[in-house]
Amino acid sequence: MPLSPSSLLTCFSLFFILSSATKIGRGYRLISIQESPDGGLLGLLQVIHKNYIYGADIPLLQLYVKHETENRLRVHITDAEKKRWEVPYDLLPRQTVPSFKQTLGVQSHKPSDYAGNELIFSYKTDPFSFSITRKSIGETLFDTTSLPSDPYSDLVFKDQYIEISTKLPKDASLYGLGENTQPRGIKIVPNDPYTLYTTDVSAINLNADLYGSHPVYMDLRNRGGVAAAHGVLLLNSNGMDVLYRGDSLTYKVIGGVVDLYFFAGASPLAVVDQYTALIGRPAAMPYWAFGFHQCRWGYRNLSVVEDVVERYKKARIPLDVIWNDDDHMDGHKDFTLNPKNYPRPKLLHFLEKIHARGMKYIVIIDPGIGVNTSYGVYTRGLASDVFIKFKGMPFLAQVWPGAVNFPDFLNPKTVHWWGSEIRRFHELVPVDGLWIDMNEASNFCNGLCQIPVGRICPNGTGPGWICCLDCKNVTATRWDDPPYKINASGTAVPIGYKTIATSAYHYNGVLEYDAHSLYGFSQTIATYKGLRALPGGKRPFILSRSTYVGSGQYAAHWTGDNKGTWADLKYSISTMLNFGIFGVPMVGADICGFYPAPTEELGNRWIELGAFYPFSRDHANFYSPRQELYQWKSVAVSARRALGMRYKLLSYIYTLSYEAHLTGAPIARPLFFSFPNETWTYGLSTQFLLGSGLMVSPILDKKKTKVHALFPPGTWYDIFDMTKVVVSKMSHYRALDAPLHVINVHLYQNKIIPMQRGGLVSKEARATPYTLVVSLPLGAAEGEARGNLFVDNDENPVMGLGNGQSTYVEFYAHVNQGAVKVWSDVREGEFAVEKGWYVEKLIVLGLKGIGKGVAIEHDGNAIVDDSKVEMSSIEHEIMDDEIEEREDEM
Ligand code: NOJ
Repeated sequence: MPLSPSSLLTCFSLFFILSSATKIGRGYRLISIQESPDGGLLGLLQVIHKNYIYGADIPLLQLYVKHETENRLRVHITDAEKKRWEVPYDLLPRQTVPSFKQTLGVQSHKPSDYAGNELIFSYKTDPFSFSITRKSIGETLFDTTSLPSDPYSDLVFKDQYIEISTKLPKDASLYGLGENTQPRGIKIVPNDPYTLYTTDVSAINLNADLYGSHPVYMDLRNRGGVAAAHGVLLLNSNGMDVLYRGDSLTYKVIGGVVDLYFFAGASPLAVVDQYTALIGRPAAMPYWAFGFHQCRWGYRNLSVVEDVVERYKKARIPLDVIWNDDDHMDGHKDFTLNPKNYPRPKLLHFLEKIHARGMKYIVIIDPGIGVNTSYGVYTRGLASDVFIKFKGMPFLAQVWPGAVNFPDFLNPKTVHWWGSEIRRFHELVPVDGLWIDMNEASNFCNGLCQIPVGRICPNGTGPGWICCLDCKNVTATRWDDPPYKINASGTAVPIGYKTIATSAYHYNGVLEYDAHSLYGFSQTIATYKGLRALPGGKRPFILSRSTYVGSGQYAAHWTGDNKGTWADLKYSISTMLNFGIFGVPMVGADICGFYPAPTEELGNRWIELGAFYPFSRDHANFYSPRQELYQWKSVAVSARRALGMRYKLLSYIYTLSYEAHLTGAPIARPLFFSFPNETWTYGLSTQFLLGSGLMVSPILDKKKTKVHALFPPGTWYDIFDMTKVVVSKMSHYRALDAPLHVINVHLYQNKIIPMQRGGLVSKEARATPYTLVVSLPLGAAEGEARGNLFVDNDENPVMGLGNGQSTYVEFYAHVNQGAVKVWSDVREGEFAVEKGWYVEKLIVLGLKGIGKGVAIEHDGNAIVDDSKVEMSSIEHEIMDDEIEEREDEM
């Protein structure tokens, strides 16, 4: 009898818990420690008692510890005698590890504590363990010491198995460790499996390792009402299981090194700032990328695409970007056009037309290059020797075009070839961005199904996901069948399942086994370089399905193949919020679900929520019915309302993306980012913030017309109807009306946000004058508010000040005995003046019953022009003050 997904999951959980109960090895003893030339610590660890479970222990390890910055501590452990695989330093630039000078027996480092600004590293020698403490409050953040009664081992270090654990207090709230659907919300749940290995598993597979690998978590603890967060990254690209038991966390990794980074925080924003300072700041995004995107698989010809654009316009629903899945391709081959369905002259004409309106066009490309001697991309690739190898031949796999070879993006020659293919294609079709899909890498055959000759599938025929290569299975090596089996795909399948054989190899002999999870990341970098190098190189836009630590520096991400169900609507929030923590703030889920099509009611609710994803795109599967927003009358109404608001807020969202680019601050954030001391926010997965104070509280359940939303203490103004206000003395839930076309979005007190008049295309919306909305605590006689605005030439690859193509404004408001003063501090205002941008209106919220008058000042010449500013304050209808029962956290 076939197992249902849920029974598979139960089996797996049992397997996972049982396998974690065996202790492996007695760890290492520290036999020497000294100061390293760079001011860190270098030690030698010797195995206490060799054991052979999962292979032999490595006898001698090198320990390196370094406070790399005031708030970042690194602990690196590797084989002392042999170089091991690590995430390549050219892919993810970082400080190098000094090599150990043989100092056996020399105990030159006396004190056992190595203190930095806020983090202290302490160690025990026999068996060796270490702990990290927060200096200011003496709290232990990480502690690898194991007691005989603990269900985990001391440090285990073998060629193909590494295990290290930490104790954790039971009240720590953990976030991160992905990519995972997070069906139970944003908090990491004890005993849920977290397997990190990039895999083409549809996002509907709960608790499975999905497309990306992000071995990082944020730990938030509240001590007497005051919260502190820190972050922990295990920089390792090999497959791993991470087991969180509620009071401990164990990494079980099948290769590489221990390279742990600790980020002191202490606010959640500080953690992502420190994290992205190491892994790379999120990419600058063009302005239009924050507009609405329409995509689907199955736009069978150009006329259909043209019709979609026209019908959006007719329905008066905003649309910035139209996408093609692989339908435009000739035989599913990258960088080609189907001459019949997408004839080039017609396509160019269409692009000219939409470009003139400010709209953009993006197409998909997959990494698998069709094996076809009449296909230039392939033959040029073959001539440049760019493909991943297996037994000396390009590794043969099957994806949409039929038989394919996979480019090896770790090879500089491949990066060069890929760049030149992008340039050629751009000459053929001036696309505005690229969507890189299937880059886990996905293969319809299993890795070991290999023959270099024989029948290969004709391209484009049959249901593509069935492997039709003539398969002769090749004998598994220890890389294809490692001693420890991670829970790949949620069912402990072989690690080469539906991907490249892990015994295949890349440039310089690098094994796919080690580099597997870097595939999408390395393709993203190559694609970014290719787009930057185009003549007139504009700011690139890339959407990648597979991501790794650092991907956010180059690309946006969507959460993959979700379902058009209410459950998936919910999950999209947790996955999106996690990606903010991963340093990939430009993220969203397929609006309306990839398959099957949503009900009309769900379509309404999805666009209401999706209008506030940082990356807002409707996408559907080939076999799904059409689900553009105009397809249902009621969805069109909701879309006009929700996207209408998004388009008024575009400059606010864009300013958030600038902050993300500077500091890593997520665009969409869990509520605890702004209210870390409010424990009610810790597991909250049904609401989120855009920036620090715009709270989105969507309907996530069928037939509901009231949303029970948590309001942290303070005043919250309804952004759609500013006369409505919620005043909250302490965090509590409120029931708010949310009839079919309504999503609740509230602006917190003490903020100033720029809004514009909106429009149907971001270019048009962007050209309209600004309204500044100043929110004050309701009825406050004293108070302050702040906000900011960043505008620039969004085609410039560099996003920032100092190039004459941008302006940054900080807005301030001050209330004193009821009198309001608003002023601005403008940096490099000339650019905004040239563009003719100005503030036409100032809305001050919260002045009810006071209203002593409003004065506005500014420092001169940009954005704010007194003569044009109309001021208004608003009468408020205070919402029912009844306190709702606290709801169970998701
Ligand atoms: C898989 C992607 O996840 C999906 O979005 C896309 O439509 C298909 N590949 C076809 O290209």
